[in-house]
Amino acid sequence: MVRSKIAGIGKYLPCNVFTNNDLTKVMDTSDEWIRERTGIEERRYATKHKETTTTLGAKASLQAIERAGIAKEDVDFIIFATLSPDYYFPGSGVLLQRELGITSTSIGALDIRNQCSGFIYALSVADQFIKSGMYKNVLVVGAEMHSMGLDFSTKGRGVSVIFGDGAGAVIMQPTNEDKGVLSTKLHSDGTYAEKLAFINPGSHGGYHKKYTNDDIDYGFPKDGLGEIFITPKMLEDDLVYPQMEGQFVFKLAVQKFPEVIQETLEDANLTKGDIDLLVPHQANLRIASFVQKKLGLEDHQVFNNIQKYGNTTAASIPIALCEAWEQGHVKEGNLVSLAAFGSGFTWGAALIRW
Ligand code: COA
Repeated sequence: MVRSKIAGIGKYLPCNVFTNNDLTKVMDTSDEWIRERTGIEERRYATKHKETTTTLGAKASLQAIERAGIAKEDVDFIIFATLSPDYYFPGSGVLLQRELGITSTSIGALDIRNQCSGFIYALSVADQFIKSGMYKNVLVVGAEMHSMGLDFSTKGRGVSVIFGDGAGAVIMQPTNEDKGVLSTKLHSDGTYAEKLAFINPGSHGGYHKKYTNDDIDYGFPKDGLGEIFITPKMLEDDLVYPQMEGQFVFKLAVQKFPEVIQETLEDANLTKGDIDLLVPHQANLRIASFVQKKLGLEDHQVFNNIQKYGNTTAASIPIALCEAWEQGHVKEGNLVSLAAFGSGFTWGAALIRW
């Protein structure tokens, strides 16, 4: 039976470290508040005007390619997950292809827009492509440059202190050995789409109010063709930043993480006692400890690095998995569980025999 396996893994974190105390210089917050509520101590921000989401992704990709022992020309499909792309379009997949200098046009490039669960979705898509025999070296990337799109004033502190920049990547290949991806499960529920969202710019023209019952006036012209995406009013009123109902997200996350992990275990005829290492999406240390308790895992069985990098959304799982592997926490034969929950809402998990 053909399965997909992770043949190489890489990560890249920009060198600029911003501690919680650094953030107190630009907004009303405190190291104590951020640590207590999220576990975050510091995060990385990319170098403005020099780095982009694509360049971060490219650095992680090159490491994954090298560790897989292949040449970049061997990559036959790219899947790029991000919520902070360089451009509105085209997506980051083709930009990464160009950045890596892959000139072959026989490869495909796909963009995934599933925010915090983007990497799990991307991994699952790669898994299906490999199992079907369509591709042999799929480059799966999660990369984010949040620092260019957050509100660093006190008004935006509930969101901006949480997120950081970074990238992680894996090369997925087919294997006939008794290892690799055992199961992936994906879920979505669009009912609460605006509870964690970045809605401007967009084509809604205010139409989404129907669903949210908010009374925000975006200053869109009432009729006429060619309406503009970003209105002066949006800029004046700071309506061009991500919005999040933190507690709502928190409550659903702690419920969905354990459920979807359990689903992958059942699919593979395994139990939570079989897990060697859980690498949860790094959303919040409190969410991770809740999931840990629910699954009855010891501290050494859960890998967290949100303390150093914050929430890097689609990049958080490949960065954490890479770091866990580099530090020797992931060994041959280990059962590794990956899980994420985020905007959409979308959530998912993957179970891998390393
Ligand atoms: N520094 C200081 N105070 C802050 C702050 C900050 N960075 N951000 C918010 N506050 C204040 C609020 O203004 C509020 O003040 P008030 O009581 O005077 O009105 C108070 O802290 C509590 O805010 P609240 O939003 O209720 O805090 P919380 O305990 O829910 O923690 C989160 C906020 C965002 C850390 C938490 O809800 C969370 O982690 N949710 C999950 C989010 C997540 O994981 N998102 C990623 C996608 S999976």
